[in-house]
Amino acid sequence: MGRKPAAHRRWRLAPAAVLLLPLVSACAGSAPSTLDPAGTGARRLEGFWWLLFWISVAVFVEVMALLAWALVFRSRAGRVNRSDPIRFVVVAGAGLPFVVLVAVYGIGLRDLAALGPPDEPPAATVDVTGHKWWWEVRYAGIDGATANEIHIPVGEAVRIRLRTVDVLHSFWVPQLMPKTDLIAGEVRETWLRAERPGEYRGQCAEYCGLQHAHMAFLVVARPRVEYDAWLGRLSTPAPAPEGEAEQRGQQAFLQGSCVACHTVRGTPASGTVGPDLTTIGSRWSLGAGAAPNDPGHLGGWIVNSQTTKPGNAMPPQPVDAAALPDLIAYLESLR
Ligand code: CUA
Repeated sequence: MGRKPAAHRRWRLAPAAVLLLPLVSACAGSAPSTLDPAGTGARRLEGFWWLLFWISVAVFVEVMALLAWALVFRSRAGRVNRSDPIRFVVVAGAGLPFVVLVAVYGIGLRDLAALGPPDEPPAATVDVTGHKWWWEVRYAGIDGATANEIHIPVGEAVRIRLRTVDVLHSFWVPQLMPKTDLIAGEVRETWLRAERPGEYRGQCAEYCGLQHAHMAFLVVARPRVEYDAWLGRLSTPAPAPEGEAEQRGQQAFLQGSCVACHTVRGTPASGTVGPDLTTIGSRWSLGAGAAPNDPGHLGGWIVNSQTTKPGNAMPPQPVDAAALPDLIAYLESLR
């Protein structure tokens, strides 16, 4: 007696759930979507996605039509056409799905093959290494490194070689290319080609521990001239600091424990545990998307990055409060 009204209430929630759907989808906000492709690989995947979508719609409509027909058929049992029900089940229930699934499989294999190496030689080869929880980025033939951002020339195919130094990660730029897993002991390969200039957010797509969500990166696609200029800056050692605060900051940096883990090319700092900081001032974020890269967040990060990104490898730093502004000024000047 008491259970029936509860069941009714549950059903009354159904329209509310439907109304909530647009709100839930709004949570995606400006997150990158595979249905907004800007690269050759993602565009092919988008085509395949829509193919599967429309096949699903056709199957749904067909099943609903058959269901409606069966209901009518049952209510008019006296007028049933029993000519050849077995043939109908074999053709519509087994033959048709078989043909559709084999066709989809064939198209999937064709698309998979098309995601491989292009015919032309690569415009650049970039070595990307996954760490818990950041991306080390090095350009073949260039003595320099950056972190959590990959610059590429627009319209050209760039080869990405993927490694991991610890656990499984997955390299994913939804608007440019499907996912590629990073597997210990292996060098995997994927290709990026952006059709238009822009910044495309990437994300680790394989759960890899506490800060998996803060393992983001940015692919920056620019015209060739701007890309070449950027690559030139990356391969140049950091110039000597000019302002007095920056000079004091550099002294604090070199005398502190920073050098044990970080490199700034052009200085004695040559640690390789953490990201290369030679261009830290120009990067889009701190901690692979954990915080914006501005003086306030940088100061907080230096003093205790564990409050921003718990579990990351950088311990809290005992920096003299008077020296902190100088240290921030120095690091922000590295561009
Ligand atoms: Cu790396 Cu998830």
